Amino acid sequence: MKRTAIYPGTFDPVTNGHIDIITRGLKLFDKIIVTILENPAKKTLFTTQKRVELLEESLKDVGNIEIAAYGGLLVDYAIKREAQAILRGMRAVSDFEYEFQMALMNRKLNREVQTVFLMTGLRWIFTSSSIIKEAVQFGGDIESMVPPVVYAELKKKYNLCPDENS
Ligand code: PNS
Repeated sequence: MKRTAIYPGTFDPVTNGHIDIITRGLKLFDKIIVTILENPAKKTLFTTQKRVELLEESLKDVGNIEIAAYGGLLVDYAIKREAQAILRGMRAVSDFEYEFQMALMNRKLNREVQTVFLMTGLRWIFTSSSIIKEAVQFGGDIESMVPPVVYAELKKKYNLCPDENS
């Protein structure tokens, strides 16, 4: 049987911590569907389309993955895609409560889908999309924390390196 996991998130934007979880997750699953869950109530820096593009470019050399976007319940999408698991990264104790609540809610909604956690690699333990966005807007050096294409887009967004053609 082919083992498929959904790796859900906001990915605003994708970070090296996410990439680490995906590449390690591929040692457990035959296929990972990296899915942007759309939440109209959540204000994001990048549009869904842009976040999809950034994921595609960042993962262009990684096999057995698919990039998707979905608006609705995560477990419904997992069933629709015949995925057995939801993959999530856990950084520190501070993540635990939120992740625990989400995993239990998803289990309540559908018992067929299992949540699997991987501990985030030590190198990325302090990174998050939000903290990276905060640092970069004040000129913090976050180049080593995100894929090159994301770094370029963040610099453009915050006008740190205005594109001569724009
Ligand atoms: O990267 P994030 O923001 O921590 O990801 C959170 C996400 C998108 C996985 C979560 O908000 C989610 O699953 N949203 C879809 C709606 C849903 O299924 N909610 C019920 C489970 S809490």
